[in-house]
Amino acid sequence: MTVLIKGGTVVTAEHTWRADVLCAEGKIQAIGAALDAPSGANVVDAGGQYVMPGGIDPHTHMQLPFMGTVASEDFETGTAAGLAGGTTMIIDFVIPNPQQNVMEAYNQWREWAEKSVSDYSFHVAITWWDDTVAADMETLVKEKGVNSFKHFMAYKGAIMADDEILVNSFSKAIELGAIVTCHAENGELVYRLQQKIFDMGITGPEGHPLSRPPEVEGEAANRAIRIAEVLGVPIYLVHNSCRQSLEAITRARNEGQRVYGEVLAGHLLVDDSVYRDPDFESAAAHVMSPPFRSKDHQTALWHGLQSGNLQTTATDHCCFCADQKAAGKDDFRLIPNGTAGVENRMEVLWHHGVSTGRLTMNEFVAITSANAAKIFNIFPRKGNIAVGADADIVIWDPEATKTISAKTHMQQIDFNIFEGMTVKGGASHTLSQGKVVFANGALNVEKGAGRYVDRPPFATYYDAIAKRTAHKAPTAVKR
Ligand code: URP
Ligand code: ZN
Ligand code: ZN
Repeated sequence: MTVLIKGGTVVTAEHTWRADVLCAEGKIQAIGAALDAPSGANVVDAGGQYVMPGGIDPHTHMQLPFMGTVASEDFETGTAAGLAGGTTMIIDFVIPNPQQNVMEAYNQWREWAEKSVSDYSFHVAITWWDDTVAADMETLVKEKGVNSFKHFMAYKGAIMADDEILVNSFSKAIELGAIVTCHAENGELVYRLQQKIFDMGITGPEGHPLSRPPEVEGEAANRAIRIAEVLGVPIYLVHNSCRQSLEAITRARNEGQRVYGEVLAGHLLVDDSVYRDPDFESAAAHVMSPPFRSKDHQTALWHGLQSGNLQTTATDHCCFCADQKAAGKDDFRLIPNGTAGVENRMEVLWHHGVSTGRLTMNEFVAITSANAAKIFNIFPRKGNIAVGADADIVIWDPEATKTISAKTHMQQIDFNIFEGMTVKGGASHTLSQGKVVFANGALNVEKGAGRYVDRPPFATYYDAIAKRTAHKAPTAVKR
């Protein structure tokens, strides 16, 4: 399959220039002015459009078993919805139950993901600790292409990692050349606040944000960052929703620590008024953790992206339909946490980021693909338009307009947190492995065509850290 993308403007995280792009055998083969179409090539007219790396969503949960149910979007439908929105790769999460063998969980998720229609990879969550977990982390890094381990500091009584687990896992990660990632919320405080709010008679979804205030997130973010600092491991905080966690990241980065932050499209664009909706279905549909925040936090998050203190955008795509959310009809603590967005992330960020002048097009590429590829060590294969890179490409029509709705989206969920939002700019074509898989509103995908992407450990980072730590090593005091 040979595809020539003709007449477009190539946009990477660094440059913007007019060029044709030739794709064959799954890779970008040539980039240049007025390239000739090889015989039999499919020529795609990209006149007036931008040719950008396909999006990488570094935080999704397809068919996640969670809070007594299973997320309604699976790896096939979820990766297809991603392609329809210009996202060509997801990084999902293997989440072992406490005491579950980590390799068993990893193999289970690999099996579930075989039907993916786009490329994918996995972070692996560390939810408990013993010597077998340490050994499995080693196997995952050395043999299975995993370079990132996730820690849920919330969800007490389920998958929460306490400080002992964090310290054990972070120490092992640095030894292996892996990065650690954290869902930062103080799980003990959330648990106590949930109890208190429920006992006060607040049983509806409005209790959810009250039990998870920004301070709870800021405390955990700061704690995780400081533990990582002591142990010398790079850390990535997922779904930062508030000024407090952004400040913890910014402070540490200003001190020279290798800390990265992700923000969700939802946290940038949806505010906490949604929880005050008297309609249970609508309010519950927005229940996710951390919750949506007030508009002043949103402003801070945009500033975080603009300043580079937040580097990536994601969705935390984790779909639960109304019948599943109904489990918490009488108790907000039982509403399955999660919202969708893999199909919409690129278009809402373009509309509210690039079109408003908050972000340049190059910054858009950085925060939707290139930075995630760099942080998780798959650059320049992914997140790039360059000869030799995977031909995962989105052709972006800046004039296309659409109104987002659950009635028309492809995601397997009956609700859309961006419902009614009219966006200008969207994917006209998406290429995955050099094949046109989405064109002018229609998908042409193949079940199982997605590949598992190995992510090697970070030798170079760790050499640098070792040198820095050697400088800091205390010298013995002579008495
Ligand atoms: O509410 C959320 N975010 N659900 C998915 C699990 C997680 O915490 O990321
Ligand atoms: Zn989370
Ligand atoms: Zn998540």
